[in-house]
Amino acid sequence: MAAPRSLRELLEALEGAGQLRRVKAPLSPVLEIPAALRMAMRSRGPALLFENVRGHPGWRVAGNLFGAPGRVELALGTRDLEAIGWRLVSAAWRPPPLGLREKLRGLAGVLDMARYAPKLVGRAAFEEVVLEGGEARLSRLPLFKCWPRDGGRYITFGQTYILDPATGVANIGVYRLMELDDKRLAVHWQLHKRGRHAYLESIRRGGEARVAIVIGGDPAAMLVGAMPVPYPLDKLLFAGLMAGRGVEVYRLPSGIPVPASAEVVIEARVDPRGEAVEGPFGDHWGYYDGPSPGWPVAVVERIWMRSDPIYVGTVVGKPVMEDAYIGKAAEAIFKPVIRTLLPEVVDLNFPVHGVFQGMLIVSIRKTYPGQAKKVMMALWGLGQTSLTKIIVVVDEDVDPRDPGQVAWAVSANVDPQRDVLVVPAAHTDQLDPAAPAPGYGSKLGIDATRKLPEENNGRPWPPEVEPDPEVDARVRRILEGEGIRLD
Ligand SMILES: Cc1cc2nc3c(=O)[nH]c(=O)nc-3n(C[C@H](O)[C@H](O)[C@H](O)COP(=O)(O)O)c2cc1C
Repeated sequence: MAAPRSLRELLEALEGAGQLRRVKAPLSPVLEIPAALRMAMRSRGPALLFENVRGHPGWRVAGNLFGAPGRVELALGTRDLEAIGWRLVSAAWRPPPLGLREKLRGLAGVLDMARYAPKLVGRAAFEEVVLEGGEARLSRLPLFKCWPRDGGRYITFGQTYILDPATGVANIGVYRLMELDDKRLAVHWQLHKRGRHAYLESIRRGGEARVAIVIGGDPAAMLVGAMPVPYPLDKLLFAGLMAGRGVEVYRLPSGIPVPASAEVVIEARVDPRGEAVEGPFGDHWGYYDGPSPGWPVAVVERIWMRSDPIYVGTVVGKPVMEDAYIGKAAEAIFKPVIRTLLPEVVDLNFPVHGVFQGMLIVSIRKTYPGQAKKVMMALWGLGQTSLTKIIVVVDEDVDPRDPGQVAWAVSANVDPQRDVLVVPAAHTDQLDPAAPAPGYGSKLGIDATRKLPEENNGRPWPPEVEPDPEVDARVRRILEGEGIRLD
């Protein structure tokens, strides 16, 4: 199955798979559409297309596109998300080519990367309507108010494009954007995010940052906005890698390339002097976040859109919501990258109720003392896993996805004084509601691996109880002879 190239193709594919419902009744983007989307997400229900958006004639709204198992796969045209990560790192796992034939095959692999590069096109569907100056007003768009105590209307699934002036690479980030007034948005890129990094670099070079906020478009580009792609890899290139083909892009007057199939593009400059108070906003930890001061302000200059635009929004809240499925997809896609950097890692699981930045369980093939702590510290030094608050390390025979097995390992293999590591005064997720300061808290590591003698006062770890297979087989036969089956 090929990856759909636009939101519209994705909606068709979802409808074809029986995973899209059209809503004809008029509903408002203020609380009502978000309520319907929340209900769909909580029940692993269908994607919804609202065909009658109260207060916004001519608009349609789509949501819960990815909020059930298999839907990210549908959007990326693959059944194997891990294979995407292997596309990136597979060369590192092979011996170098020696003979000419092997070298040519290796070269073909390099040329293959060109398939994933963005492709520039001269026309875009969103050229149909171009609103400039006083016409470019945010009130035209059906932004969501998701929760009753949210501080205003938000763009919740906008992809914020910004070029990094240090490298020229494109960054795409799904960051919430709060409507401050008809022309201004507070940009909520958090402390450690690439979008903020590119913004600070632009300011440092004396300029102001230009951004383009994209709604809809190529599904791979929508998803890559929420993916922790390692800096400085170009996110449009990574979107191509995910979709198995390049994203078609149109270059805006600001020089920013955006997907040609986008529904809406908001061009804005980020004012280095503007500092907005942002929030409150019901966030993915399940609490209201904010209001908090100091967020940069994007001033809208131009809005491009199709003549019959489809707006896309999402709702975040206490797990499990749509973002959990995107997070799980990121886990699968980046597992090969983590395994390349930390070869002892066998498997990993960010439990969906752990909000991704909250908890990570990782299994390792342990061969030397202290290795579990080495893995924790490495993960706390890597990209967005560095934001994870609690890391539990288990042996390779423990399935990190099985809460029972993990509870056993934590209970049976941990001596708290030896095996629990608290890292005080560390950086952490900016939204962590328990941290004493935004982005600044502490970490907890639990080494639930079996201890080697060096880690255990020289004592060998006790042998695990294992049944005698012959006795088991005999007893099973005897019981079955009496009509008792115990599987
Ligand atoms: C629905 C949704 C909303 C998000 N909101 C924010 C946000 O407001 N601020 C933020 O920094 N990250 C937010 N994220 C997480 C980022 O999208 C994610 O960290 C991504 O890697 C950011 O891109 P970057 O690494 O290129 O900065 C959100 C993710 C999703 C799925």
